[in-house]
Amino acid sequence: MKRMSLHILNPRNRLLTSAAAVTLLAAVQAASGAATIDFNRDIRPLLSDNCFSCHGPDASHRKAKLRLDVEEGATSDLGGYQAVAPGQPEASELIARINASDPDDLMPPPDSGKSLADEEKRLLRAWIQSGAPWAQHWAYVPPTRHPVPAARDASWPLSWVDDFIMARLEAEGLSPAPEADRVTLIRRLTFDLTGLPPTPAEVKDFLEDRSEDDYERVVDRLLRSPGFGERMATYWLDLVRYADTVGYHAVENIVHVRDLHATMLHMLGIDPQRFSVPFQGLDMRLTGVEEAPVVHEVLG
Ligand code: HEC
Repeated sequence: MKRMSLHILNPRNRLLTSAAAVTLLAAVQAASGAATIDFNRDIRPLLSDNCFSCHGPDASHRKAKLRLDVEEGATSDLGGYQAVAPGQPEASELIARINASDPDDLMPPPDSGKSLADEEKRLLRAWIQSGAPWAQHWAYVPPTRHPVPAARDASWPLSWVDDFIMARLEAEGLSPAPEADRVTLIRRLTFDLTGLPPTPAEVKDFLEDRSEDDYERVVDRLLRSPGFGERMATYWLDLVRYADTVGYHAVENIVHVRDLHATMLHMLGIDPQRFSVPFQGLDMRLTGVEEAPVVHEVLG
């Protein structure tokens, strides 16, 4: 059996590819010098979690007319000084405020319940020191190929993705875990792609399959199964805030959400009729009941 670490990058499987790209990006960045500060990875999340609620895009909640979610706002003239003075942490009001000893000056304000750890303050200072380079949100940055690092142990990597993983493991002084036994493998894979355990027959088939591409065949079978689309739908429908109740949305939004829902099912290759009784398999297999419980028609 070939070890399969690359199935997530298979172009047939577009949905997983984006998730894989993010993971990959992290591995790439980690392998290519953890010391460099990356705005999107290291800085934006800090500002977003701790500052944007009062200095972000929402004008009605914005304090001190200061925006820290856009470069022009962060570097704007506040009356002879800037929150962020690129290259000059000492001249940056942001640095003064996050280190202020007077609780009236301290940012984020103590009564907001937010706070920055020393390491996070250090990162913000180092970022400003390095010129405060801003970057577009990563979702808009076209992915580029990074040079593949050379792993010392060339026997484990099967693909260039594995080289990144191996190089990072080596940098951390770790070695890869041994391959799992076959029952564990098919169980993990089936849960991963469908959210369900494999049936005893599926396990048996896999144990008996001695072909070179046995693992790939299970991957292909699972990707073709409606369970894969349903599994993806659980995340995507959450993202579009779909609920078969009105949820948070006002009544007039229902039609709009329903359109999104239908589009989503179409993209995932799911027959809407089938999805109108979602997770039938889950109910039956995990609860052991013969008939799936009646679920209301989500498409109306
Ligand atoms: C809960 C709301 C809140 C949060 C969260 C918050 N701030 Fe503020 N911030 C304020 C208010 C209110 C003021 C104006 C009062 C003052 O100057 O202390 C202010 C003022 C500032 C100023 C001075 C602006 C000027 O014109 O001089 C800076 C710089 C600043 N904040 C940075 C930050 C940073 C950086 C964070 C996140 C690490 C942050 N703030 C988080 C409410 C907040």
